[in-house]
Amino acid sequence: MSSHALHRRHGNATPFDRILAPVHRWIWRDPDRRVQKLLRFGETETDGGRDLLRAAEVTADPLLRRLYLVHATDEQRHGQLFRKRAAAMLSGSPAPEERAEWIAPGGHGLDDLEVDQESDGTMLAFLHVAERSAASRFMVYRDVMHFDPATRGIFDDILRDEMFHMNYTLTQLVRVSPERHRSQLWRARLSRLWKAYLRLASALAGVIGGFILTIQYFVLLPPFAWFAKRAGKREQGGWIPIAPERNDSLRREY
Ligand SMILES: [Fe+2]
Ligand SMILES: [Fe+2]
Repeated sequence: MSSHALHRRHGNATPFDRILAPVHRWIWRDPDRRVQKLLRFGETETDGGRDLLRAAEVTADPLLRRLYLVHATDEQRHGQLFRKRAAAMLSGSPAPEERAEWIAPGGHGLDDLEVDQESDGTMLAFLHVAERSAASRFMVYRDVMHFDPATRGIFDDILRDEMFHMNYTLTQLVRVSPERHRSQLWRARLSRLWKAYLRLASALAGVIGGFILTIQYFVLLPPFAWFAKRAGKREQGGWIPIAPERNDSLRREY
């Protein structure tokens, strides 16, 4: 497929998400995995909603407070939609644990947010970057979900809200921080990239650690086993007499 066709297919999704579309299709195709992911997305959206309620509490800007409250209600609704869909899909059998979080993290990643520490500007920059990334991901998820029209419909529905979140956060960022909004956006992007790197690095570290331990098991342990066997052969069987001076009192340790 040409890159132009891909672009049309996944709308404004980032090139990275578009390239990963086959991976996302593979991840979502499996019904058990889909349920797990929907449940996790549900959690992330609801957590994001809670953070936004807190943001509405701490901001001194009345317009932002109203927008954050609307936004929080949306995220709450998204959480419910994901959970309801997961519940509808669950057919009694417990699904296996599946974690491919480093490559397809759940939703926004608003969980990285420390609401109380942020100014209106940094908060909006963080939200904008997170919402943009969610909108891009959800667009690809919707497009690869042709095997499950009900789930696809949910992503389509949610996507409309995410577009709104993405747009209002940028407009408001430019309003509250007309001079610094660009640098604030870059800082938010970089911190997001850094977190993605950390996620990838820790996943990789797990794999490498497992590999090295396996090698150690096969390379370092055999000589010890061999020495132990050899020493065992030299040992005499049965009772062995000890020196008489070690044999006098049982009240002392030595
Ligand atoms: Fe959402
Ligand atoms: Fe959102």
